[in-house]
Amino acid sequence: MTESTGVDYAEVGNDFAFFIRHTNESRAQVTALLPAMSALVDGCGQGRMLDFGCGDGTFGLRFLEALGASASRIGLTLAEPVGDHLDRAVGRLAPLVKSIAVTNSDLEQSGIGPFDLILANHCLYYVADPSETVGRLLDLLAPGGVLIAPMLDRGNALARIWQTAFDIVDQPFPFVLAEDIEALARFLGADVSREVIAYTIDFPDRPAARLSILRFLLGDYLKALDAHTARSLFDAHTQGDRVVLATTYPHLVIWQCRSEA
Ligand SMILES: C[S@@+](CC[C@H](N)C(=O)[O-])C[C@H]1O[C@@H](n2cnc3c(N)ncnc32)[C@H](O)[C@@H]1O
Repeated sequence: MTESTGVDYAEVGNDFAFFIRHTNESRAQVTALLPAMSALVDGCGQGRMLDFGCGDGTFGLRFLEALGASASRIGLTLAEPVGDHLDRAVGRLAPLVKSIAVTNSDLEQSGIGPFDLILANHCLYYVADPSETVGRLLDLLAPGGVLIAPMLDRGNALARIWQTAFDIVDQPFPFVLAEDIEALARFLGADVSREVIAYTIDFPDRPAARLSILRFLLGDYLKALDAHTARSLFDAHTQGDRVVLATTYPHLVIWQCRSEA
């Protein structure tokens, strides 16, 4: 299996689903992705798309549904290390697209690509070798293609909680954030622009709910924190009987501009 850092989505799937039910993030994301989605299927767009780290297809479904009938012009390739989630994504997304294929999330399979659009939605935090993965994703872009990597940055309210959890237990933060991937992509010769996503996370203020969000962020690392300290990480965000985080992060929009040797 592909090497990942720290959080196993086979274990935290229910916590991630709880998070998704309590945020309006997907709506903001689909709006921001509309231009790239349209370019993929309109006019001379060839519709070749890779959804890297696709999970169980929850976001992919929203993305494709927003395209309506045009989604049937997309040749979709999925990559996801959790086998059950990949199977679910294939089942959900296949009826909406022209063709569907799967590839290993190490991207080492021969014959994949090129792609006009690669979406790596909130998954690059976890890759074991970000430089290798970003380089491989860039190599898989068709001329004029674009890699979109939505990622929390260091100023994001949830990312601050994420980082603080590691500070408390005196461990280095093991994930990469948007700033790291942006610097890496530039170092690899790509052009990068940012599109800011504003969204809200809003859930009932119950101990179990706080812990669920933390399990999704931290996976097994949560065991290093005592439960009271862990839950207190949300104290600054209470509003009455709810926890509310109104915050932002960027979609990194990355083009390969390396000249051919
Ligand atoms: C926050 S979820 C996002 C899922 C999906 N992209 C979405 O938007 O709903 C992160 C995903 O990254 C996947 N992931 C973890 N390690 C990965 C790796 N090394 N390569 C690709 N995906 C990985 C996880 O299994 C999980 O499905």
